[in-house]
Amino acid sequence: MANTATIEINGEKHEFPLIEGTEKEVAIDITNLRTATKGVITIDPGYKNTGSCESGVTFLDGEQGILRYRGYSIEELAEKADFLEVAYLLIFGELPTKEQNDKFHEDIKAEAVVDEDVKKIVESFPKSAHPMGVIASLTSALTAFNPSSVNVDSEEDMYRAIVKILGKFPVLVAWTLRKKQGLPLDYGDDSLGYVENILKMMFKKPNKEYTQNKVLVNALDKLLILHADHEQNCSTSTVRIVGSSHAGLFASLSAGISALWGPLHGGANQAVLEMLEAIKNDGGDTKKYMAKAKDKNDPFRLMGFGHRVYKNFDPRARIIKKAADEVLGDLGVQDPILDIAKGLEKEALEDAYFVDRKLYPNVDFYSGIIYRAMGIPTDMFTVMFALGRLPGWIAQWREMRLRKEPIGRPRQIYIGATERKFVPVDER
Ligand code: CMC
Repeated sequence: MANTATIEINGEKHEFPLIEGTEKEVAIDITNLRTATKGVITIDPGYKNTGSCESGVTFLDGEQGILRYRGYSIEELAEKADFLEVAYLLIFGELPTKEQNDKFHEDIKAEAVVDEDVKKIVESFPKSAHPMGVIASLTSALTAFNPSSVNVDSEEDMYRAIVKILGKFPVLVAWTLRKKQGLPLDYGDDSLGYVENILKMMFKKPNKEYTQNKVLVNALDKLLILHADHEQNCSTSTVRIVGSSHAGLFASLSAGISALWGPLHGGANQAVLEMLEAIKNDGGDTKKYMAKAKDKNDPFRLMGFGHRVYKNFDPRARIIKKAADEVLGDLGVQDPILDIAKGLEKEALEDAYFVDRKLYPNVDFYSGIIYRAMGIPTDMFTVMFALGRLPGWIAQWREMRLRKEPIGRPRQIYIGATERKFVPVDER
């Protein structure tokens, strides 16, 4: 294959190098395009053809349904690793040794408290506040309580900021839920595993011992692993671009959380459950909703279907669908919503509209059903996604800073009014 690409503009040819990744993906390196062509840029709404960086964190092949973190398949990690090992792998590039893993966990546990004044912020939110707005604000507020984590340039300072947020974020998640439910804002139990501790912090009742349920621990561990990274999606790109101005880690993460909130991204898990509920309450007529999804005059979309990159199947959805069956079976939960989801999936997979557009169930189609079986309220689903995505965002932010990437600053093609003269208000 040629190792350059030629672009011809008004009869003048310009050559640009090709870059090839370790998985043979190819990109035209247009770093010098504007200089070489004296001002011409590319335009690519939604960045459908634009690589924003070179990254060694996650590999994704949308045609073949492959997802690997640092070279390890998502199927193998979901089966054999735990969430903290995966977090370490994503952030530092290698699976931890037993000693590295223990130290990582100890360092995180040492940070699993927040300033008591943060409680005042939590308490000042109305109970009706959406948890994603609350958790984004609390993450941002952490910068005020941890000023040493704001300007971090050295790997050592980055490590300290990373264990801080991995320790404190689950406390904030638990408090976001507990505030809504009117429960006291407690801390976790440092004798527990990372995921066990999260569950206890979320669900412990003030007048009752909390008993761990292995099924729930395993299910949450798996869900968090499946959500842990997904290369340059909307929220991750947000984290990288905010961080590229050298805003600190927590501020960058808070921006990423806000980006995740939207129903076209992480907010889809809440939207899926609400859609399935609506279909159930409307008599369970899946055909009616299939027709709505296909009607171009109807804004309704089948939530949990379609993906910008996966055009064959989402490997995470396969694992989650199986996990949903297992978890509901193990917990003895009969959920009519699961039957509606399976019916909808079957119909969509046989329908020409969905087949032609390569629309398949994505990670969010079944995750909400598991969260619901675990007793997590629907509007907390996207917060659980953020909890899982935290290591991925951190890994991408750290990589961007260590590679000393320049500030993200796209260009535009201006289509507004050309120069005109100001008219005083009484003459308009
Ligand atoms: N229901 C009905 N039609 C759809 C759907 C859907 N869920 N998704 C895409 N289409 C149609 C769309 O109308 C368009 O049709 P046409 O070519 O006739 O105009 C075609 O399929 C291509 O869609 P697109 O919007 O151009 O594709 P995109 O790559 O820009 O959007 C998406 C990807 C995920 C935003 C979109 O599929 C969607 O809105 N899905 C529902 C929301 C959802 O489940 N999001 C979670 C994504 S996975 C979790 C994550 O990583 O965030």
